[in-house]
Amino acid sequence: MAKHPSFEFDRRRLLGLAAGVAAVAPFAAFAQAAEDAPLKIATIGSGRQGGALGALFARQGHPVMFSSRHPEDLKDLAASAGPTAQAGTVEQAVKFGDVVLLVVPYTAVEEIGKDYGQALAAKRLVIDVSNPIARRDGEAIVSWVAEQGGAGLATAKLLPGARLVRAFNAINFRRLPEDSHRAGDPVGVPIAGDDPAAVALATRLIREIGFEPVLVGGLAMGKYLVPGTPLAGEHTPAEIRRIAATLK
Ligand SMILES: NC(=O)c1ccc[n+]([C@@H]2O[C@H](COP(=O)([O-])OP(=O)(O)OC[C@H]3O[C@@H](n4cnc5c(N)ncnc54)[C@H](OP(=O)(O)O)[C@@H]3O)[C@@H](O)[C@H]2O)c1
Repeated sequence: MAKHPSFEFDRRRLLGLAAGVAAVAPFAAFAQAAEDAPLKIATIGSGRQGGALGALFARQGHPVMFSSRHPEDLKDLAASAGPTAQAGTVEQAVKFGDVVLLVVPYTAVEEIGKDYGQALAAKRLVIDVSNPIARRDGEAIVSWVAEQGGAGLATAKLLPGARLVRAFNAINFRRLPEDSHRAGDPVGVPIAGDDPAAVALATRLIREIGFEPVLVGGLAMGKYLVPGTPLAGEHTPAEIRRIAATLK
């Protein structure tokens, strides 16, 4: 029996589509695997907050290098974070990381920018956890940061070209292990960044360690991602969206 021409066309199109899907599927699987692949994560600053965050990423299977100016003091931290963690100098960590967590007193950011700014500008993502705090860093730096428009824009000035996302700025280090992957509503992490690819990568990484990132805006909104603002502390993602809508 002669086949109806439109049926024959549909059949051919279907076969073509199926062949196309079969051809594309391995690439899609590859792309997915690449998206989920472990990333080398370096911390500049491995004290209370840098140590706690780096440990969460290491437990998730990412290779992590903790660093400070005294890497010999970080051996216990690296050992307790598991087999994917190690300690190094700041220089080694900057070389090592695809992603860098900047978790230092704000007074150190300028020097880090001078020493490693070029290398940091080549990273896919620099997560800026550092805050200007008057009692620790002095009034002068806090005023300078305010003149730049807040911590997000100030860090961008000190690390020109870096793909910055501010995150985890006002959740206490003691709370991070128990907040991570907590049951029920996840803890929200307000984030701010100007680079869409960096924001997407930060979003993936923050979800992997069991928090829900909420983009509150560009780096200019980083001025609210410091202790003492309405976004500070622990909030659900819905609360963060509600609070962020009142800020500008
Ligand atoms: N603690 C919290 O709960 C918390 C929460 C949110 C955000 N933060 C922010 O995170 C940052 C770090 O706070 P923290 O409490 O973790 O401080 P911390 O315990 O005192 O640790 C600071 C780390 O920064 C390193 N560091 C200092 N100056 C450096 C430099 N010039 N170059 C390289 N590394 C340097 C120190 O290592 P060496 O001295 O050995 O080099 C140390 O590892 C601050 O900006 C803070 O506001 C803290």
